[in-house]
Amino acid sequence: MTAPKGEGVGKRSGTGTETGTGTGTRSRTGTGLKDPSIRRSLALFRAFLHEQDDPESCYTLLARDAADQVEAYGAVEGRTVVDVGGGSGYFTEEFRRRGAHAYLFEPDVRELGPKPPRSAVVADGYLLPLADGVADVCFSSNVLEHVADPQTFLSEMVRVTRPDGLIYMAFTNWLSPWGGHEWAPWHYFGAERARARYRRRTGKAAKHTLGENLFAVHIGTTLRQVRARDDVRVVAARSRYWPFLAGAVAKAPGLREFATWNLLLILRRCPP
Ligand SMILES: C[S@@+](CC[C@H](N)C(=O)[O-])C[C@H]1O[C@@H](n2cnc3c(N)ncnc32)[C@H](O)[C@@H]1O
Repeated sequence: MTAPKGEGVGKRSGTGTETGTGTGTRSRTGTGLKDPSIRRSLALFRAFLHEQDDPESCYTLLARDAADQVEAYGAVEGRTVVDVGGGSGYFTEEFRRRGAHAYLFEPDVRELGPKPPRSAVVADGYLLPLADGVADVCFSSNVLEHVADPQTFLSEMVRVTRPDGLIYMAFTNWLSPWGGHEWAPWHYFGAERARARYRRRTGKAAKHTLGENLFAVHIGTTLRQVRARDDVRVVAARSRYWPFLAGAVAKAPGLREFATWNLLLILRRCPP
């Protein structure tokens, strides 16, 4: 996996402050929706409502949106993108559509589905079969809340990212209205009660069990842990989906746990 040199998400100078364009991208392949904006949030919300009956449209839009967010920091064309816990590969495919050398790493073959992207690798995010610093972009969407040890998971993402490379990590925090996943928002009344309610209402067992494949990740704790690290610099910490004040909402202790919905962290790997 080699990445050509040039302009792109891999920022070459390690100094100074950095912001994304804040406007999303309006490329041929992107959503064409401004980020943040009410139009974009409504489009995503409508797509989420049809996640079960039309996953293709929902995840295609979400993948385009996430790729726009990455490309706010530079084009991925010709770059190496590692998608950790990428499920059935919508994000990997979208990065490839944009000319990236994108690779999917997913530990659960059931999540890969019937048509995974070519050369998908069955691998755990704790132990990626990759050399140090191979990725220009290390990407994970909605995986952190599914791992028991988020710090080790992040350390592995950092290890495979080259100095000055970009790390995109987004997750649904526990106290978000969607924190309980398929049993949300009843998780506010306790995980076990919410799971039992889900089974009663749908007649099937819930996919997620707290402490097994879903964990209570909090925004304040995560931010403190990430800021305490000396191998990454926080470039952005903001709500992934909010239509306005996306950065401000993630700064308000207490409130942010309920109002952020999904935290997007953009990190830069520090040079050694
Ligand atoms: C909610 S899905 C997210 C899939 C995709 N990234 C998305 O945003 O649609 C969570 C994914 O995390 C994966 N996952 C769970 N534990 C993992 C681990 N230790 N390493 C890598 N991926 C993991 C699951 O297999 C699943 O595919």
